[in-house]
Amino acid sequence: MAEEKKADCSPEGIAHKLARPNILALAPYRCARDDYSSGILLDANENPIGPTALPTQSTTNSLSLERYPDPYQITLKHKYLQFRNASTQLTPDNVFVGVGSDEAIDLLMRIFCVPGVDNIVITPPTYGMYKVSAAVNDVEVIKVDLTPDFDVRVNETLAATNANTKLLFICSPGNPTARAIPHSTIIALATSPLYNGYIVVDEAYIDFSPVASTISLLSSYPNIIVLQTLSKAFGLAGIRCGFALSHPDVIQLMNNVKAPYNMNSLTTEVAINALGNVEDVLKVNVQTLLEQREVVMKELEKLDFVTKVYPSDANFVLFRLERFAQEVYKVMADGGVVTRYRGNEVHCHECIRVSIGQEHENQEFLKRLVDTYQKLSS
Ligand SMILES: Cc1ncc(COP(=O)(O)O)c(C=O)c1O
Repeated sequence: MAEEKKADCSPEGIAHKLARPNILALAPYRCARDDYSSGILLDANENPIGPTALPTQSTTNSLSLERYPDPYQITLKHKYLQFRNASTQLTPDNVFVGVGSDEAIDLLMRIFCVPGVDNIVITPPTYGMYKVSAAVNDVEVIKVDLTPDFDVRVNETLAATNANTKLLFICSPGNPTARAIPHSTIIALATSPLYNGYIVVDEAYIDFSPVASTISLLSSYPNIIVLQTLSKAFGLAGIRCGFALSHPDVIQLMNNVKAPYNMNSLTTEVAINALGNVEDVLKVNVQTLLEQREVVMKELEKLDFVTKVYPSDANFVLFRLERFAQEVYKVMADGGVVTRYRGNEVHCHECIRVSIGQEHENQEFLKRLVDTYQKLSS
């Protein structure tokens, strides 16, 4: 969700003299919510139907909030593995719980990449946080663009790695591409003699995807790390809860490096409650969003000024306008319908990314899109 904006550290101040050079060069995070935080928010790929669970109503102190929380969230890990049907192959030793998957991304860089020496490989257009975390940790980023259809260029990607490449990030389904990467591609990367680092498969949108999670590959491929989150399908972006699943050696290192009490008791409680609502809430909400995704895509395809609607394996759609994408984004957002302009990303010229909302939100988005384009082109 985060990307860069202009640095604002005063050159006369003490901080400027003392800070690490790579941190000074860094720009503060910037996300769509910096500019627009109200209206119909279809910019951050959340689940606008709402959360899969709420905190337990309590007049007693059932969570013992005066005490530090469980540092390893064993109950939550067991329940998560059950939810993923992975309890027979994996144990809590294969699971890290973090403050969103963003915490896991940062920890992996801190664990595996020596600042100023090692590098990561990313495949643009992709999630912005890999680059941001790399900059914070003074880690070089090697980019190998996806194909225009958003496939991984396996040979080129492997060829771009070197002895200092520690992490290769594959976002599946991709953001902003919405495209799931087949297991065969992940296996090709994981088994190649050309690359000895980890393959990090970011599955933030996996619950919307027809391609199954690569969790099933973990017992055969100890060099794969899978990232997942409750921020998307579970509708729980506000509690900040993400997961990394991998070989116990990786998880042990993550536990060694994380802050001792990274997960607070309230988040853990809501996460456990949510995993009790899979059939009656999660699956129903995902189905609703998938149906709405079809409606939005069909309507977009009917518009003559929309030149491309990319296939979607996620809860958002990437589409291209004939022209004016940035202006359309801005006018719509100023008018209260917030999407994400992606036209600066590779292969995404004149593209907008829209998260799937509730029916009335999607209808309003489609109506405003037509009105705005017509006004701008008249
Ligand atoms: C691909 C991808 N990975 C990870 C995240 C962040 O997830 P979390 O909220 O768990 O930090 C996002 C959020 O937009 C995302 O798009």
